[in-house]
Amino acid sequence: MNSSPHKSRLPTRASKLPTAYRLLPTVFCLLPSAFCLLLSGCVGAQSSLDPAGPQAQHIARIWWQMFFILAAIFLIVMTTLAIATWRRRASANSEAESQSVLKPDVGSEWRMSTLVASAVVITVFILFILLISSFLTGRSLHSLAESNLKPLTIDITGQQWWWQIKYENDMPSRMVTTANEIHIPVGRVVQFKLKSNDVIHSFWVPNLHGKTDLIPGHIAATWIRADRPGIFRGQCAEFCGHQHAHMAFTVFAETEAQFKVWYDAQLLGAAASANTQLARGQQVFMTSTCIMCHRIQGTDAGGAVGPDLTHVGSRQTIAAGTLQNTRDNLAKWILDSQAIKPGNRMPPNPLNAEDLGALLDYLQSLK
Ligand code: CUA
Repeated sequence: MNSSPHKSRLPTRASKLPTAYRLLPTVFCLLPSAFCLLLSGCVGAQSSLDPAGPQAQHIARIWWQMFFILAAIFLIVMTTLAIATWRRRASANSEAESQSVLKPDVGSEWRMSTLVASAVVITVFILFILLISSFLTGRSLHSLAESNLKPLTIDITGQQWWWQIKYENDMPSRMVTTANEIHIPVGRVVQFKLKSNDVIHSFWVPNLHGKTDLIPGHIAATWIRADRPGIFRGQCAEFCGHQHAHMAFTVFAETEAQFKVWYDAQLLGAAASANTQLARGQQVFMTSTCIMCHRIQGTDAGGAVGPDLTHVGSRQTIAAGTLQNTRDNLAKWILDSQAIKPGNRMPPNPLNAEDLGALLDYLQSLK
């Protein structure tokens, strides 16, 4: 008679668990496997998990470390939950055990307390391991800055919404200015000096390093080294306005010889217009709004509002990685860049077909 109320109440509560709820532990146990499958796609031109230099390797190492530790904890917790759910259901079906659930003995309470205390100690220990690991990674990330070798120094200025790039040199005549595409030699330490004249941006090339913010009124520095050749995509990683998503750049890590060829070519002024069509294109540039904002070394154009165009024809993309540098895209950009990247500082240029054609020929000749 005494047992009848428990008998009727407990099994009913257990059987009332919705099927979806009972399947939850299984679903959670399968999640990490699904996540691992997704991760297999994380390699390529913009990925922290495909490191191309020591800085990114330190970051990838701590990422994987945390991933495996946390995935193990997740699996243990979910397995424990699944076992507890299963035992609860099994005990609810047995009258004798349901009595023991309602009146736990001293032994099982003691076991439970020991289990909880052990879990707390293990949790604190794991957090301590992660803290030490994070501290050591931070120190490793600074090791390149302490290298005795003279770095290649590149000044980066974040602008809404593109990147100005200046290679420092003791001789002013050997300084190079370009935009949105950074060439670096493999194996050499590169120091980036980062600043902004408008809002906060963040310089991020996941394959080479973590993020560094560009704060107006402050010069930040970060060091990288590429250990293998490659083309790596970088992206502004701090929301900086309407076109934040279209503020990308590309890093070309190349051999010392390839870098020297590129650098020497950048030192030269724009080539003289070789024929009447190019001369007409140059004249269109110099007599339209282009000259107000852009610089072409070796000509009268000395604007600093927009990117330096001295070697624009040699770049792979335009508008900070927004478009491939093709004749078609260049034409659309010149005619109405606001339709492509609204809010940028370039006004529309309603040129007639002949002038536009000549201007495109001229710009594409600037290799
Ligand atoms: Cu610059 Cu986001």
